[in-house]
Amino acid sequence: MNELSEQIKAIIDKETPLISNLSNASAVLNQLDNINWCGFYLVNKDTLYLGPFQGEIACTIIKRGKGVCGTCLEKEETIIVGNVNEFKGHIACSSKSKSEIVVPIKKNNKVVALIDIDSPVYNRFNESDKILLEEIANILSDLNF
Ligand code: SME
Repeated sequence: MNELSEQIKAIIDKETPLISNLSNASAVLNQLDNINWCGFYLVNKDTLYLGPFQGEIACTIIKRGKGVCGTCLEKEETIIVGNVNEFKGHIACSSKSKSEIVVPIKKNNKVVALIDIDSPVYNRFNESDKILLEEIANILSDLNF
């Protein structure tokens, strides 16, 4: 298992409030190279709302189907965007962000939250990031969403 996955596994605790667990998890994710934002969006029906994160201020509410995050909620699968300028409807929280990966966290087959990571370089994220972040999403899905 990757070191970041191990760290996430070590720090999370089901008995601790979700927000505290995700706050520390965002700090673990922030160790990734070449990123300018990482954090969580939480699902409430057809809306995503901003959760714990590291980075500059971000959009607080994203509707299902909007932007990369809303598209991930709709498709229920990981989305890698090599160049955010080429993603139709991309929501630019920061002009620094050039590429992005969004990974769903599923509990009982339902998307309950998303991991969102932005990079200041194009094409930052690849298949191995997807595998790593899906593993982390799976570990986090044990929490009380
Ligand atoms: N770029 C995202 C919005 C969230 S920020 O990147 C933190 C999107 O298009 O959904």
